[in-house]
Amino acid sequence: MECQFDQRVPRRNTQCVKWDGVLDVFGQENLLPMWVADMDFRAPEAAVRAVTARAAHGIYGYEKKPESLTEAVLNWLAARHNWAVDPIWLSHCPGVVSGLVLSLLALTEPGDRVVIQPPVYPPFFTIVEQNGRTVVENPLVWKDGQYRMNLSELEDIFRSGVKTMMLCSPHNPVGRVWSRGELLSLGELLRKYGVTVFSDEIWADLAFPAHRHIPLASLSPEIADQTLTFMAPSKTFNLAGLYMSNAIISNEELRSTFSAQLQRLSLGHVGIFGPVAAEASYREGGEWLDRLLTYLEDNVRFVTDELAKITPKIRVIQPEGTFVLWLDCRDLGIPWDDLNQFFVRQAGLAFNDGARFGPTGAGFQRMNIGCPRVLIQEAMERLSKTLRHL
Ligand SMILES: Cc1ncc(COP(=O)(O)O)c(C=O)c1O
Repeated sequence: MECQFDQRVPRRNTQCVKWDGVLDVFGQENLLPMWVADMDFRAPEAAVRAVTARAAHGIYGYEKKPESLTEAVLNWLAARHNWAVDPIWLSHCPGVVSGLVLSLLALTEPGDRVVIQPPVYPPFFTIVEQNGRTVVENPLVWKDGQYRMNLSELEDIFRSGVKTMMLCSPHNPVGRVWSRGELLSLGELLRKYGVTVFSDEIWADLAFPAHRHIPLASLSPEIADQTLTFMAPSKTFNLAGLYMSNAIISNEELRSTFSAQLQRLSLGHVGIFGPVAAEASYREGGEWLDRLLTYLEDNVRFVTDELAKITPKIRVIQPEGTFVLWLDCRDLGIPWDDLNQFFVRQAGLAFNDGARFGPTGAGFQRMNIGCPRVLIQEAMERLSKTLRHL
């Protein structure tokens, strides 16, 4: 039976980077775009209605943050993540990446070392480097059929004096939803060495039903004391172009330092439509999200089954959440430097090259499955045809 997520909504000529940016980024048209992390689904109807109603007013002057938005965000965090957040902890910035950059500028000095866990979302490297800080890699390790944190190496890094970490939780691209045990062990190290963590939890709402996202700062007041958390409705409800994200900081000193930076750069305003769409989604989008998660899990299953029929040489790293799939293509026998171009030129598929997620991502591709199944089916057909001629 068809469901709302099966519906194809044409996106070409809407100035969307995923479809309209393909030629610029991949140098070729007519690719199936399964790269940048937004979805080809309409946002929840409640969001579309709220934005449409606000747009119809016709006056788009300077905005003030509605009190009701704070209430909607806090209710959502309590209901979905069992996290009681005080309204004064919450502020807003345009994107989660802006929040991370603001944190770096506010709380670190040029030359400071910042630990990240590759393979990881590429801006984790670039924002550190572009702002004159130094990346320290603590690569994830593959153990017992899963990516895990290398906590003993992390402890060595902390022992060497690194005081800042950027955490990706859940983790893009490998799809891990860190367990309570893993986060507690991490929290212990953060406490022991007095490390401040910028916790990017943009994927928090996209943990599959069998897995529960636990906000790092919800583990204990002591861990919260060293944590700046960034979340957003952007991935959850497909609102990335509206640029409104949530920063949650319980430690008063960290919060005021962050806020001062936000003001210094005049980045505290998030426009009219972001808050309108976010509030409507947080209030009324819960069921939509539950249906989405079921659909995404079915997409994962579909790709896994289809690839198993096509070739044993591409392995799907089973995600516990997100709408990106991490594909291990190292057995394909294609030089890793040529792998992405193979997918682009031979198969007509615009995936993200794993190498961009750090050295340990070489030989992998990241596929965005946030789209109607019919597109995924087409991707699998293109791949099958191409591999037959390999
Ligand atoms: C881990 C992670 N953080 C941040 C972002 C982007 O955040 P924003 O668009 O709010 O800056 C993404 C997008 O894919 C992501 O995967």
